[in-house]
This record gives sequence, C-alpha cells and structure tokens, in this order.
Amino acid sequence: MSDGVRWLGAWPHTQGAAHARTGFAAAFGGEPSGVWAAPGRVNLIGEHTDYNNGLCFPTALPHSTYLALRPRTDDAITLVSAQMPRSAPWTATLNAVGPGTVAGWGTYVAGTAWAMAAGGAYGGSGFDAFVASCVPGGAGLSSSAALECSAAVALDELGGGSLRQTDEGRAILVQCCVRAENEIAGAPTGGMDQSASLLARAGHALLLDCLTGATEHVPFDLTSSGLTLLVIDTRAHHALVDGQYASRRSQCEQAARRLGVESLRQAADAVASGTWALSEVLDRLDDPVLIRRTRHIITEIGRTAQFAELLRAGRLDEIGPLLDASHASLRDDYEVSARELDAAVVAAREAGALGARMTGGGFGGSAIAVVPLGTEGHVAGAVHGAFATAGFEPPAFALAPPMQGAARIA
Ligand code: GLA
Repeated sequence: MSDGVRWLGAWPHTQGAAHARTGFAAAFGGEPSGVWAAPGRVNLIGEHTDYNNGLCFPTALPHSTYLALRPRTDDAITLVSAQMPRSAPWTATLNAVGPGTVAGWGTYVAGTAWAMAAGGAYGGSGFDAFVASCVPGGAGLSSSAALECSAAVALDELGGGSLRQTDEGRAILVQCCVRAENEIAGAPTGGMDQSASLLARAGHALLLDCLTGATEHVPFDLTSSGLTLLVIDTRAHHALVDGQYASRRSQCEQAARRLGVESLRQAADAVASGTWALSEVLDRLDDPVLIRRTRHIITEIGRTAQFAELLRAGRLDEIGPLLDASHASLRDDYEVSARELDAAVVAAREAGALGARMTGGGFGGSAIAVVPLGTEGHVAGAVHGAFATAGFEPPAFALAPPMQGAARIA
C-alpha cells in the first residue's frame, strides 16, 4: 500500500471491550455490568431518501462504538469518553432529560435513555458509562448513531427488556434512537443510520423501505465477485446541524405538498408504475430548485430498487454505473456534494473503481468505491495523490465488509 496513505483500522471486539472496561475502571472504579458494541454504517445507495419515505441500502461497518455501562441506584447519568480524555464527565439526571434541557455529546446516550423511558422501553435508573470508539467521527459514518444504538441495546438488557432479541423489537429501539437524535440532540435526520446499526447482518446489505418499515437482508458478498468496498474519508467538514440538511428536508416536503402527495415516495412509485411520467411530475413544480431536489429523490429511489435487483441476482459486477449516477445526482440535483467528494470519486474511478459515490449526508464526509479485490491499495494511493495535488487535507481509508448490528460483546 502506498506511502503516506492512512488506513482507519477497525478494532477487533476483544480490543474494543478491553478499552471500554479499562476506561470504565479508571473513571468509575470496579467493573461495568457489561460492554455493548454498535457499528457505524456506510450507505451503498439511496441517499437522502429515508426522510422521503424512500428506499435506502446501508451496511454496518467493522468499526464500532463500545459502551461499558453500570446502572446506579439514583437517576444520575455520568458519561466519560476515551475521545475526550481531558474533558470533565458529561452529567445529567435522567428525569430532567428532555428537549432543550441538555446539550453536548452525552445527548446521544441520555436522549436514548429518555426516549426509551418515554416509550415504556426502559424503566431503569441512571447509570455510569464509558465510551470508546473506532468509528471515525465527523466522517459521515454515523458515529452518533453508533453511540445511540450501543446505549439502546445496553439499556434494553439492563432494564430487563427483550426488544434487542427480535428485528421487530430492534425496530422499536431504532425509533427511540431517532427520537434521541431529532428531539434531544437536535439533528433532523431520518432513520437510516440507526436502522443499519441495530438491524444489519454480517454478509448482507440492509434494504430499508422507509414507507412500510419493511426490511430485507440481501446477501452482499463482494469478495466472491472479486471486488471490495473502499471507504474514503475525505476529512472535509461534515455538519448535519448547520441547516443544509434541514433545508433539503423542507424542500422535499414543499415539493410533496405542491404535488399533492404525502411524500416524494408516492411520486416515485407513480413514476415507477408508469402512472406518471417523470417529466410530468417535474412540470408541476415550477421552482427550479424543487425540480432538481425532486428529480434526485425520484431517480435515487429508482436506482436503489435496481441496485437491489442486481444484488438479488448476484450481479455485483454491474453495480458501478448506479453508484456513478447516484453521485452525479447528489452533486448536480441535490447539491450536497463537496469538492473533496467529487475529487475522491473521480480519482477512484480513474484508478480502476467500477463505481464510486459520496455516502451519507454529504457536504464533506466519506465516499465509497467498489474496486477489484487487491487493487484497494492502488486506488487509495491514487486518491491520496489527487488530494495532495489539489491541496486538500490527506484523506483516510477503510475497508468495509458488511458486519453485524449492535450487541453485547462482553
Ligand atoms: C444522514 C442522516 C440519514 C440520511 C443520510 C442521507 O446520514 O442521518 O438519516 O438522511 O444523511 O441519506
């Protein structure tokens, strides 16, 4: 692998558990009740579709967040993070957590406890917890969802619940984590990230139908097709809370209202079934911005359905053009790409990737590229070189075989 290329290795679970336990003992003394791990995610395709009731298709990363937790007898919540060794512990009182009452990184954990308690899914006390994570932060790989989901499985178990034991129960935990993120952390995201972190299965991609809530675990074994999935963390700024994400979301809602449909998913279904032509739908929106946003959502839902067909048929070597088309649509119509993301996908394709696209919310963050197995070092080196030439900060790379969702690991 090329000189200077930085790889973001994932911790084996034993190492993550050891980090979390050691950190817990140093912060609180004694042993935690257990250690729970939840993965970050990459989305293969279906971007910005979740909050439009559309289809999306994430997998869980080998990179996880590890939470060592021990219940308390009172309702205090005290959190310490390995990522912030010099900061004071994050503290709150469970009964006092609510929209607008807490701020900072602990909202992802405390908000999950609050949402579970509000939904009758957690009747327990406060707790002490230590967090250690190898999910790259700020990379668009859902480190915040991983934190929420590690808390969800931990609190379900310690509260005597059994939601984590079935997909139906996990879907309820997903909703609690989404409430934590929307109402307590204040990020108006959809549910894709939490679904991936809680529901994903090893060796499979998770097809999510955000209208019906239906999920399908579709086998996703790139290796057997001589391919691998390369994640490129551009290190460029990624912020979901700076208003751009919320503005895309409200533009979609506005477009749906003008079209007289509940969500753009209904428009996508009408186009897919031939009831409406895409041009007809777009003609009914006279605002050029709404036209572009709507075109992205409708075509992206279509691409995601096609992608699922290719995966079900085992035709993995044909997915490249769909990834490329998704990127172009996100760049030109949805306008959520960034120079670094565009440079990463161009350099990856020039170095032999079958297809490449930005993944996640955008405005920086990460891209993915499907590359022939064995060429990942070469492709990473080419992207690294292109970034140096463009004067961008050096990117970092990870390999992303599809992993299992959140669970107790120690
Ligand atoms: C972020 C959000 C998700 C989803 C993606 C875009 O990751 O958290 O809910 O909307 O952006 O697909």
